[in-house]
Amino acid sequence: MDVFEAIHSRQSIGKVKPDPIPRPLIEKILAAGAQAPNHYRVRPWRFVVLTGSALDRLADVMAASLKKRDPNAAPEAVAAARNKALRSPALIAVGVDKPGESKVIEIENVSAASAAVQNMLLAAYALGLAAKWHTGANAADADIKTFLGFAPDQHLIAFIHIGYPLAEPSAPSRPSFDDRTTWME
Ligand SMILES: Cc1cc2nc3c(=O)[nH]c(=O)nc-3n(C[C@H](O)[C@H](O)[C@H](O)COP(=O)(O)O)c2cc1C
Repeated sequence: MDVFEAIHSRQSIGKVKPDPIPRPLIEKILAAGAQAPNHYRVRPWRFVVLTGSALDRLADVMAASLKKRDPNAAPEAVAAARNKALRSPALIAVGVDKPGESKVIEIENVSAASAAVQNMLLAAYALGLAAKWHTGANAADADIKTFLGFAPDQHLIAFIHIGYPLAEPSAPSRPSFDDRTTWME
């Protein structure tokens, strides 16, 4: 698929089939992520791939975290929190390394990891898969970060849900760059 076609026709797709994604496809997506530019070649992204029962364990942690954040959460809200982990048969959580040396800047590491996420969204699309970038309160939750192997002060920038699309997506329509661009000559 041509890169322009992929960029322009990719879209977030949340509704997916439960069918598992073959590991070689997930590895292709991860490999695309690892092609992202990154300053000082620190490769600041950390990918955690969850499939199968790992998603159930994450679901339990997400439910417990909601109850911890909101002890009065209704059972329906707790069930919804649990289901967030179970949206797709594969999930890639993306964490960001804290700078290990003074010349490395945290925002640049976050930027590089974000570029990796977009690469992965495009790769998933090119492979005929549906993908969607999620964050929300779970991305800032210390217990969820700990479960995934991240430090509580590490940025967790994405839960990328991946699956086979339930329906053929329609072509996305996005505003032009015009009103966000200044030309200086
Ligand atoms: C940093 C970031 C965080 C996001 N978090 C969420 C989220 O928590 N829930 C959600 O439904 N979509 C989330 N999205 C996806 C956007 O809502 C989605 O990209 C947007 O609706 C545009 O859709 P498109 O990707 O089809 O152009 C997030 C996107 C980004 C870049």
